[in-house]
Amino acid sequence: MPGMEVFGAEEKKEVMDVLETGAMFRYNHEEMRKGHWKARDLEKEVRKFTGAKFAHAVASGSTAVTTALAAAGIGHGDEVIVPPFTYIATIEAVIYAGGLPVFAEIDENLCLSSEGIKKAVTPKTKAVLLVHMVGAAADMDSVTRVCKEHNLILVEDAGQALGAFYKGKSVGLFGLTGAFSFDFFKIATAGEGGVLITNDETAYKLADNFTDHGHDHIGNNRGMENHPVLGFNYRISELHAAVGVAQMRKLDMLIRNKKENKQYMKDKLSRLIELSFRPMPDPDGDSGTFLNFFLPTSQMAGDVMKEFAKDGVQGCNYWYTNMYHFINQWDHVKNLNSAAPLAIHHFGPPQDYNNLDLPKSQEIIGRLISLGIRATWNKDELDALANKMIGAIQKVVNA
Ligand SMILES: Cc1ncc(COP(=O)(O)O)c(C=O)c1O
Repeated sequence: MPGMEVFGAEEKKEVMDVLETGAMFRYNHEEMRKGHWKARDLEKEVRKFTGAKFAHAVASGSTAVTTALAAAGIGHGDEVIVPPFTYIATIEAVIYAGGLPVFAEIDENLCLSSEGIKKAVTPKTKAVLLVHMVGAAADMDSVTRVCKEHNLILVEDAGQALGAFYKGKSVGLFGLTGAFSFDFFKIATAGEGGVLITNDETAYKLADNFTDHGHDHIGNNRGMENHPVLGFNYRISELHAAVGVAQMRKLDMLIRNKKENKQYMKDKLSRLIELSFRPMPDPDGDSGTFLNFFLPTSQMAGDVMKEFAKDGVQGCNYWYTNMYHFINQWDHVKNLNSAAPLAIHHFGPPQDYNNLDLPKSQEIIGRLISLGIRATWNKDELDALANKMIGAIQKVVNA
Protein backbone atom coordinates (compact mmCIF):
# COMPACT_ATOMS: atom_id res chain seq x y z
CA MET A 1 0.00 0.00 0.00
CA PRO A 2 1.12 3.39 -0.91
CA GLY A 3 2.46 6.67 0.40
CA MET A 4 -1.13 7.86 0.83
CA GLU A 5 -1.08 5.97 4.15
CA VAL A 6 1.36 8.49 5.61
CA PHE A 7 0.02 11.70 4.05
CA GLY A 8 0.32 14.30 6.80
CA ALA A 9 1.75 17.56 8.06
CA GLU A 10 4.92 17.35 5.93
CA GLU A 11 2.97 17.12 2.67
CA LYS A 12 0.65 19.94 3.74
CA LYS A 13 3.61 22.19 4.61
CA GLU A 14 5.17 21.68 1.18
CA VAL A 15 1.84 22.41 -0.53
CA MET A 16 1.31 25.50 1.62
CA ASP A 17 4.69 26.86 0.46
CA VAL A 18 3.24 26.86 -3.03
CA LEU A 19 -0.21 28.12 -2.08
CA GLU A 20 1.23 31.02 -0.11
CA THR A 21 3.04 32.36 -3.16
CA GLY A 22 0.60 31.15 -5.81
CA ALA A 23 3.52 30.10 -8.05
CA MET A 24 2.08 26.80 -9.28
CA PHE A 25 4.08 26.70 -12.54
CA ARG A 26 7.41 24.90 -12.39
CA TYR A 27 9.36 27.33 -14.57
CA ASN A 28 10.32 31.00 -14.19
CA HIS A 29 8.39 33.45 -11.95
CA GLU A 30 11.49 33.86 -9.78
CA GLU A 31 10.23 36.82 -7.73
CA MET A 32 6.78 35.44 -7.12
CA ARG A 33 7.94 32.01 -5.91
CA LYS A 34 10.12 33.26 -3.06
CA GLY A 35 12.71 30.53 -3.44
CA HIS A 36 10.27 27.59 -3.71
CA TRP A 37 11.05 25.20 -6.58
CA LYS A 38 9.10 22.04 -5.80
CA ALA A 39 9.55 20.20 -9.12
CA ARG A 40 13.29 20.82 -8.86
CA ASP A 41 13.27 19.63 -5.23
CA LEU A 42 11.44 16.46 -6.24
CA GLU A 43 14.02 15.82 -8.95
CA LYS A 44 16.81 16.40 -6.42
CA GLU A 45 15.27 13.93 -3.96
CA VAL A 46 14.88 11.30 -6.69
CA ARG A 47 18.48 11.83 -7.82
CA LYS A 48 19.68 11.47 -4.25
CA PHE A 49 17.63 8.33 -3.62
CA THR A 50 18.37 6.52 -6.88
CA GLY A 51 21.87 7.80 -7.56
CA ALA A 52 20.78 8.96 -11.04
CA LYS A 53 22.79 11.76 -12.62
CA PHE A 54 19.60 13.29 -14.01
CA ALA A 55 15.92 13.27 -13.04
CA HIS A 56 13.02 15.06 -14.66
CA ALA A 57 9.58 15.28 -13.06
CA VAL A 58 6.46 15.10 -15.23
CA ALA A 59 2.68 14.95 -14.89
CA SER A 60 2.30 11.17 -14.52
CA GLY A 61 3.98 7.82 -14.77
CA SER A 62 2.36 7.39 -18.19
CA THR A 63 3.95 10.58 -19.52
CA ALA A 64 7.23 9.55 -17.87
CA VAL A 65 7.20 6.30 -19.89
CA THR A 66 6.23 8.21 -23.05
CA THR A 67 9.11 10.61 -22.42
CA ALA A 68 11.51 7.77 -21.66
CA LEU A 69 10.75 6.27 -25.10
CA ALA A 70 11.02 9.60 -26.91
CA ALA A 71 14.30 10.52 -25.19
CA ALA A 72 15.68 7.11 -26.16
CA GLY A 73 14.79 7.80 -29.79
CA ILE A 74 12.05 5.18 -30.09
CA GLY A 75 9.17 6.02 -32.41
CA HIS A 76 7.41 5.48 -35.70
CA GLY A 77 7.43 1.86 -36.87
CA ASP A 78 9.87 0.59 -34.24
CA GLU A 79 9.18 -2.83 -32.77
CA VAL A 80 9.39 -2.71 -29.00
CA ILE A 81 9.37 -5.87 -26.87
CA VAL A 82 6.93 -5.58 -23.95
CA PRO A 83 5.51 -7.92 -21.29
CA PRO A 84 1.89 -9.12 -21.27
CA PHE A 85 1.82 -8.48 -17.49
CA THR A 86 2.07 -4.77 -16.82
CA TYR A 87 -0.17 -1.76 -16.42
CA ILE A 88 -1.76 -0.83 -19.74
CA ALA A 89 0.15 2.51 -19.79
CA THR A 90 3.27 0.61 -20.92
CA ILE A 91 1.54 -0.59 -24.05
CA GLU A 92 -0.23 2.72 -24.69
CA ALA A 93 3.09 4.56 -24.46
CA VAL A 94 4.60 2.39 -27.20
CA ILE A 95 1.54 2.70 -29.43
CA TYR A 96 1.26 6.50 -29.04
CA ALA A 97 4.98 6.81 -29.76
CA GLY A 98 4.15 5.21 -33.13
CA GLY A 99 5.84 1.99 -32.07
CA LEU A 100 4.68 -1.61 -32.44
CA PRO A 101 4.45 -3.63 -29.21
CA VAL A 102 5.74 -7.20 -29.44
CA PHE A 103 4.61 -9.29 -26.48
CA ALA A 104 7.17 -11.68 -24.96
CA GLU A 105 7.12 -14.17 -22.11
CA ILE A 106 7.69 -13.32 -18.47
CA ASP A 107 9.05 -15.73 -15.86
CA GLU A 108 8.22 -16.48 -12.19
CA ASN A 109 9.95 -13.22 -11.25
CA LEU A 110 6.96 -11.58 -12.99
CA CYS A 111 9.08 -9.58 -15.44
CA LEU A 112 10.24 -10.17 -19.02
CA SER A 113 12.78 -13.00 -19.09
CA SER A 114 15.91 -13.01 -21.22
CA GLU A 115 14.64 -16.19 -22.95
CA GLY A 116 11.33 -14.46 -23.66
CA ILE A 117 13.09 -11.43 -25.10
CA LYS A 118 15.40 -13.58 -27.23
CA LYS A 119 12.49 -15.46 -28.79
CA ALA A 120 10.64 -12.22 -29.63
CA VAL A 121 13.54 -10.46 -31.38
CA THR A 122 13.13 -9.82 -35.13
CA PRO A 123 15.27 -7.77 -37.53
CA LYS A 124 12.89 -4.86 -36.85
CA THR A 125 13.25 -4.90 -33.06
CA LYS A 126 14.59 -1.61 -31.80
CA ALA A 127 14.07 -1.73 -28.06
CA VAL A 128 12.92 -3.56 -24.96
CA LEU A 129 10.51 -1.74 -22.66
CA LEU A 130 11.21 -3.70 -19.51
CA VAL A 131 8.71 -3.42 -16.67
CA HIS A 132 9.82 -4.06 -13.09
CA MET A 133 6.53 -5.46 -11.88
CA VAL A 134 4.92 -5.32 -8.45
CA GLY A 135 7.76 -3.70 -6.56
CA ALA A 136 10.94 -5.58 -7.46
CA ALA A 137 13.55 -5.68 -10.19
CA ALA A 138 13.78 -7.94 -13.22
CA ASP A 139 16.82 -10.21 -13.60
CA MET A 140 19.05 -7.43 -14.84
CA ASP A 141 22.22 -9.43 -15.52
CA SER A 142 20.50 -11.63 -18.08
CA VAL A 143 18.23 -8.91 -19.49
CA THR A 144 21.06 -6.45 -20.10
CA ARG A 145 23.13 -9.29 -21.62
CA VAL A 146 20.45 -10.20 -24.16
CA CYS A 147 19.88 -6.51 -25.03
CA LYS A 148 23.61 -6.09 -25.73
CA GLU A 149 23.77 -9.30 -27.77
CA HIS A 150 20.97 -8.10 -30.03
CA ASN A 151 21.89 -4.42 -30.00
CA LEU A 152 18.57 -3.39 -28.46
CA ILE A 153 17.91 -0.15 -26.61
CA LEU A 154 16.74 -0.84 -23.07
CA VAL A 155 14.11 1.45 -21.54
CA GLU A 156 12.72 0.71 -18.08
CA ASP A 157 9.15 1.22 -16.97
CA ALA A 158 9.68 1.26 -13.21
CA GLY A 159 6.19 2.65 -12.64
CA GLN A 160 5.61 0.15 -9.81
CA ALA A 161 9.15 -0.14 -8.56
CA LEU A 162 10.42 3.07 -6.98
CA GLY A 163 12.57 1.80 -4.11
CA ALA A 164 13.63 -1.39 -5.89
CA PHE A 165 17.31 -2.07 -6.51
CA TYR A 166 19.29 -4.82 -8.23
CA LYS A 167 22.71 -5.53 -6.75
CA GLY A 168 22.78 -2.05 -5.27
CA LYS A 169 21.69 -0.15 -8.39
CA SER A 170 18.28 1.49 -8.64
CA VAL A 171 15.85 0.25 -11.22
CA GLY A 172 15.58 2.80 -14.01
CA LEU A 173 19.36 3.12 -14.38
CA PHE A 174 20.12 -0.08 -16.29
CA GLY A 175 18.71 1.18 -19.57
CA LEU A 176 19.08 4.47 -21.40
CA THR A 177 16.07 5.94 -19.61
CA GLY A 178 13.73 4.86 -16.82
CA ALA A 179 10.34 6.02 -15.56
CA PHE A 180 8.63 6.08 -12.15
CA SER A 181 4.98 6.75 -11.33
CA PHE A 182 3.92 8.92 -8.41
CA ASP A 183 0.19 8.36 -8.86
CA PHE A 184 -2.14 8.01 -5.86
CA PHE A 185 -1.53 4.27 -5.47
CA LYS A 186 2.26 4.22 -5.44
CA ILE A 187 4.83 3.82 -2.66
CA ALA A 188 5.47 7.57 -2.88
CA THR A 189 2.66 9.67 -4.34
CA ALA A 190 2.33 13.18 -5.66
CA GLY A 191 -1.41 12.69 -6.20
CA GLU A 192 -0.46 12.49 -9.87
CA GLY A 193 3.09 12.61 -11.12
CA GLY A 194 6.03 10.79 -12.62
CA VAL A 195 9.79 11.09 -12.77
CA LEU A 196 12.18 10.10 -15.55
CA ILE A 197 15.75 9.18 -14.61
CA THR A 198 18.85 8.69 -16.72
CA ASN A 199 22.62 8.89 -16.57
CA ASP A 200 22.73 10.13 -20.16
CA GLU A 201 22.88 13.90 -20.54
CA THR A 202 21.59 13.95 -24.11
CA ALA A 203 18.56 11.86 -23.16
CA TYR A 204 17.94 14.11 -20.17
CA LYS A 205 18.05 17.28 -22.27
CA LEU A 206 15.69 15.76 -24.81
CA ALA A 207 13.31 14.80 -21.98
CA ASP A 208 13.50 18.28 -20.51
CA ASN A 209 12.64 19.84 -23.90
CA PHE A 210 10.09 17.24 -24.98
CA THR A 211 7.93 17.56 -21.87
CA ASP A 212 7.49 21.32 -22.26
CA HIS A 213 6.69 21.97 -25.93
CA GLY A 214 10.35 21.76 -26.85
CA HIS A 215 11.45 24.69 -24.66
CA ASP A 216 15.20 24.70 -24.06
CA HIS A 217 14.82 26.31 -20.61
CA ILE A 218 17.82 28.55 -21.15
CA GLY A 219 17.60 32.05 -19.67
CA ASN A 220 14.72 33.50 -17.70
CA ASN A 221 12.48 34.83 -20.46
CA ARG A 222 10.17 31.99 -21.41
CA GLY A 223 8.80 33.84 -24.41
CA MET A 224 12.26 34.08 -25.96
CA GLU A 225 13.37 30.49 -25.41
CA ASN A 226 14.41 28.33 -28.34
CA HIS A 227 12.76 25.02 -29.26
CA PRO A 228 15.31 22.45 -30.37
CA VAL A 229 12.64 19.75 -30.79
CA LEU A 230 8.88 19.35 -31.00
CA GLY A 231 7.37 18.57 -27.64
CA PHE A 232 4.13 18.60 -25.74
CA ASN A 233 2.85 19.58 -22.29
CA TYR A 234 3.75 16.81 -19.82
CA ARG A 235 4.62 19.26 -17.05
CA ILE A 236 4.01 18.52 -13.39
CA SER A 237 2.44 21.31 -11.34
CA GLU A 238 4.25 22.69 -8.33
CA LEU A 239 1.34 21.58 -6.13
CA HIS A 240 1.75 17.96 -7.11
CA ALA A 241 5.53 18.11 -6.97
CA ALA A 242 5.28 19.54 -3.44
CA VAL A 243 3.46 16.44 -2.23
CA GLY A 244 6.03 14.25 -3.97
CA VAL A 245 8.90 16.03 -2.20
CA ALA A 246 7.47 15.26 1.25
CA GLN A 247 6.79 11.66 0.24
CA MET A 248 10.31 11.12 -1.07
CA ARG A 249 11.60 12.14 2.34
CA LYS A 250 9.51 9.34 3.86
CA LEU A 251 10.54 6.71 1.35
CA ASP A 252 13.28 5.06 3.39
CA MET A 253 10.88 4.64 6.31
CA LEU A 254 8.11 3.33 4.02
CA ILE A 255 10.41 0.73 2.49
CA ARG A 256 11.76 -0.34 5.88
CA ASN A 257 8.26 -0.83 7.33
CA LYS A 258 6.93 -2.58 4.25
CA LYS A 259 9.83 -4.99 4.10
CA GLU A 260 9.37 -5.82 7.76
CA ASN A 261 5.62 -6.36 7.35
CA LYS A 262 6.12 -8.36 4.20
CA GLN A 263 8.62 -10.66 5.90
CA TYR A 264 6.18 -11.14 8.79
CA MET A 265 3.38 -12.13 6.43
CA LYS A 266 5.69 -14.32 4.36
CA ASP A 267 6.87 -16.19 7.46
CA LYS A 268 3.25 -16.83 8.45
CA LEU A 269 2.12 -17.95 5.00
CA SER A 270 5.23 -20.10 4.50
CA ARG A 271 3.65 -22.64 6.82
CA LEU A 272 1.40 -23.60 3.93
CA ILE A 273 3.54 -25.97 1.91
CA GLU A 274 1.23 -25.62 -1.10
CA LEU A 275 2.31 -21.98 -1.57
CA SER A 276 5.45 -20.78 -3.31
CA PHE A 277 6.76 -17.23 -3.51
CA ARG A 278 8.15 -14.96 -6.22
CA PRO A 279 11.80 -15.94 -6.71
CA MET A 280 13.55 -12.56 -6.81
CA PRO A 281 17.10 -12.50 -8.22
CA ASP A 282 18.05 -9.92 -5.57
CA PRO A 283 15.71 -10.17 -2.56
CA ASP A 284 17.63 -7.46 -0.67
CA GLY A 285 16.73 -4.98 -3.39
CA ASP A 286 12.98 -5.56 -3.03
CA SER A 287 10.90 -2.46 -2.22
CA GLY A 288 8.51 -4.57 -0.10
CA THR A 289 5.44 -3.29 -1.94
CA PHE A 290 3.80 -6.66 -2.62
CA LEU A 291 3.96 -10.21 -1.30
CA ASN A 292 3.54 -12.31 -4.44
CA PHE A 293 2.64 -15.95 -3.99
CA PHE A 294 1.59 -18.84 -6.20
CA LEU A 295 -1.02 -21.56 -5.75
CA PRO A 296 -0.38 -24.94 -7.38
CA THR A 297 -3.05 -24.31 -10.05
CA SER A 298 -4.97 -21.35 -11.45
CA GLN A 299 -8.23 -23.03 -10.43
CA MET A 300 -7.02 -22.97 -6.83
CA ALA A 301 -5.88 -19.34 -7.08
CA GLY A 302 -9.32 -18.32 -8.34
CA ASP A 303 -11.00 -20.33 -5.57
CA VAL A 304 -8.75 -18.76 -2.93
CA MET A 305 -9.79 -15.32 -4.14
CA LYS A 306 -13.45 -16.36 -3.75
CA GLU A 307 -12.74 -17.49 -0.18
CA PHE A 308 -10.90 -14.21 0.52
CA ALA A 309 -13.96 -12.28 -0.65
CA LYS A 310 -16.26 -14.37 1.59
CA ASP A 311 -13.97 -13.92 4.61
CA GLY A 312 -13.38 -10.20 4.07
CA VAL A 313 -9.67 -10.50 3.25
CA GLN A 314 -8.72 -7.22 1.60
CA GLY A 315 -5.71 -6.04 -0.37
CA CYS A 316 -5.12 -9.09 -2.59
CA ASN A 317 -5.02 -8.83 -6.38
CA TYR A 318 -5.73 -11.62 -8.84
CA TRP A 319 -4.45 -10.03 -12.01
CA TYR A 320 -5.38 -13.01 -14.22
CA THR A 321 -9.08 -12.23 -14.41
CA ASN A 322 -10.17 -9.19 -12.56
CA MET A 323 -7.54 -6.54 -12.91
CA TYR A 324 -6.34 -4.31 -15.68
CA HIS A 325 -2.78 -5.58 -15.66
CA PHE A 326 -2.83 -8.65 -17.87
CA ILE A 327 -3.25 -9.13 -21.60
CA ASN A 328 -6.37 -11.32 -21.20
CA GLN A 329 -8.37 -8.22 -20.35
CA TRP A 330 -7.02 -6.05 -23.17
CA ASP A 331 -9.53 -6.59 -25.97
CA HIS A 332 -9.17 -2.97 -27.03
CA VAL A 333 -5.44 -3.52 -27.59
CA LYS A 334 -5.94 -6.83 -29.37
CA ASN A 335 -8.52 -5.27 -31.67
CA LEU A 336 -6.61 -1.98 -31.99
CA ASN A 337 -9.66 0.05 -31.06
CA SER A 338 -8.67 3.70 -30.97
CA ALA A 339 -10.25 7.13 -31.11
CA ALA A 340 -8.39 7.93 -34.32
CA PRO A 341 -6.04 6.11 -36.71
CA LEU A 342 -2.57 5.40 -35.32
CA ALA A 343 0.80 4.34 -36.69
CA ILE A 344 0.07 0.72 -35.77
CA HIS A 345 -2.94 0.75 -38.12
CA HIS A 346 -0.66 1.94 -40.88
CA PHE A 347 2.13 -0.59 -40.25
CA GLY A 348 -0.10 -3.43 -39.04
CA PRO A 349 0.47 -5.23 -35.73
CA PRO A 350 3.74 -7.19 -35.60
CA GLN A 351 1.99 -10.21 -34.04
CA ASP A 352 -1.50 -11.67 -34.24
CA TYR A 353 -2.63 -10.10 -30.97
CA ASN A 354 -5.75 -12.27 -30.82
CA ASN A 355 -3.71 -15.47 -31.00
CA LEU A 356 -0.64 -14.75 -28.93
CA ASP A 357 1.37 -17.76 -27.84
CA LEU A 358 2.39 -16.95 -24.26
CA PRO A 359 1.72 -20.17 -22.33
CA LYS A 360 4.28 -19.50 -19.62
CA SER A 361 2.90 -16.05 -18.81
CA GLN A 362 -0.65 -17.45 -18.77
CA GLU A 363 0.35 -20.22 -16.41
CA ILE A 364 2.30 -17.95 -14.07
CA ILE A 365 -0.26 -15.16 -13.81
CA GLY A 366 -3.05 -17.73 -13.48
CA ARG A 367 -1.49 -19.04 -10.25
CA LEU A 368 -0.39 -15.66 -8.86
CA ILE A 369 -1.97 -13.69 -6.02
CA SER A 370 -0.38 -10.39 -4.93
CA LEU A 371 -0.94 -8.99 -1.46
CA GLY A 372 -0.37 -5.22 -1.27
CA ILE A 373 1.76 -4.54 1.81
CA ARG A 374 0.90 -1.60 4.03
CA ALA A 375 3.58 0.34 5.88
CA THR A 376 1.32 1.13 8.83
CA TRP A 377 -0.01 -2.28 9.86
CA ASN A 378 0.47 -3.08 13.54
CA LYS A 379 1.11 -6.59 14.87
CA ASP A 380 -2.56 -7.25 15.69
CA GLU A 381 -3.59 -6.28 12.19
CA LEU A 382 -0.86 -8.44 10.68
CA ASP A 383 -1.86 -11.44 12.77
CA ALA A 384 -5.55 -11.01 12.01
CA LEU A 385 -4.89 -10.78 8.29
CA ALA A 386 -2.49 -13.73 8.27
CA ASN A 387 -4.96 -15.91 10.17
CA LYS A 388 -7.81 -15.04 7.82
CA MET A 389 -5.66 -15.68 4.76
CA ILE A 390 -4.34 -18.99 6.07
CA GLY A 391 -7.87 -20.13 6.93
CA ALA A 392 -9.18 -19.26 3.46
CA ILE A 393 -6.25 -20.87 1.65
CA GLN A 394 -6.54 -24.04 3.75
CA LYS A 395 -10.20 -24.38 2.83
CA VAL A 396 -9.17 -24.55 -0.84
CA VAL A 397 -6.05 -26.67 -0.63
CA ASN A 398 -7.67 -29.19 1.73
CA ALA A 399 -10.91 -29.44 -0.27
C1 LIG B 1 4.16 -0.32 -14.68
C2 LIG B 1 3.45 1.00 -14.77
N1 LIG B 1 3.78 1.87 -15.71
C3 LIG B 1 3.17 3.05 -15.84
C4 LIG B 1 2.14 3.42 -15.01
C5 LIG B 1 1.42 4.70 -15.22
O1 LIG B 1 1.56 5.58 -14.16
P1 LIG B 1 0.48 6.73 -13.93
O2 LIG B 1 -0.75 6.12 -13.32
O3 LIG B 1 1.19 7.64 -12.97
O4 LIG B 1 0.24 7.37 -15.22
C6 LIG B 1 1.74 2.54 -14.01
C7 LIG B 1 0.63 2.89 -13.10
O5 LIG B 1 0.13 2.11 -12.36
C8 LIG B 1 2.40 1.30 -13.88
O6 LIG B 1 2.03 0.41 -12.97
